[in-house]
Amino acid sequence: MREGRWLSAVIAITAAAMAMSGCASSAPSQVVSQTSRFDRIIDLDPADTSGDVALEEVLDSRRSGRSFAGSSVSLDVLGQLLWAGQGVTDAQGHRTAPSAGARYPIELYAITADEVMRYRPNSHQVDVRSDARVLGGLAELAFGQSFVSAAPLVIAVIAEPARTAAEYGAAAEPLVDRESGHVAQNILLQATALGLSSVPVGGFDPHAIAELLALPPGQDVRYLIPVG
Ligand SMILES: Cc1cc2nc3c(=O)[nH]c(=O)nc-3n(C[C@H](O)[C@H](O)[C@H](O)COP(=O)(O)O)c2cc1C
Repeated sequence: MREGRWLSAVIAITAAAMAMSGCASSAPSQVVSQTSRFDRIIDLDPADTSGDVALEEVLDSRRSGRSFAGSSVSLDVLGQLLWAGQGVTDAQGHRTAPSAGARYPIELYAITADEVMRYRPNSHQVDVRSDARVLGGLAELAFGQSFVSAAPLVIAVIAEPARTAAEYGAAAEPLVDRESGHVAQNILLQATALGLSSVPVGGFDPHAIAELLALPPGQDVRYLIPVG
């Protein structure tokens, strides 16, 4: 069998297996790795799960925005945005965004003027470290898109594909990429519902940003979402 056909066959078989299982294997507990890169943990207030704006209204008004009114984002708003992207929504550990095989390969980082945070979905907390270099450095690594560093908050959607590859092997990569789109869209819609400007940014140097964020090996950046 030629290599291309072999790969197609694996993908087709994997897709069929996923369809049959409904991707409903139980959610693995979050891999809490590299905590030492942070020096403190902050509890976030419980997310608002009712809201006061209709989903249809949010869909109708979402627009990419590249200018930001505020100079900071409250911890409440930050927690709500992170929950929208990756919050845990049932006792089995399933989350706001779907995940192939419930492998949850996505990590969310939040970057502000003076801190870098990493979301812990299971406990709805953030790991925090002080770092005033990162936000200002993002624009240059996003090919000079200056609005990226002008936002009070940038949420980085980060993937650890090995979590999905452990179940789906070579088929993991496109699954993880699709998944980052689900997560990003949730964050964009939540930002819209909160009356904030946001835009999904895919134009950046992923290696340089991984280095700036001091990501552990095996993790890479899929999206930057400036919000404010
Ligand atoms: C995969 C992807 C990558 C994008 N990358 C950028 C980007 O690097 N910079 C930017 O300003 N907008 C970026 N955008 C936003 C698009 O420009 C925007 O969605 C498009 O103009 C449609 O406008 P709307 O989002 O307001 O509907 C990206 C959108 C997607 C889906």
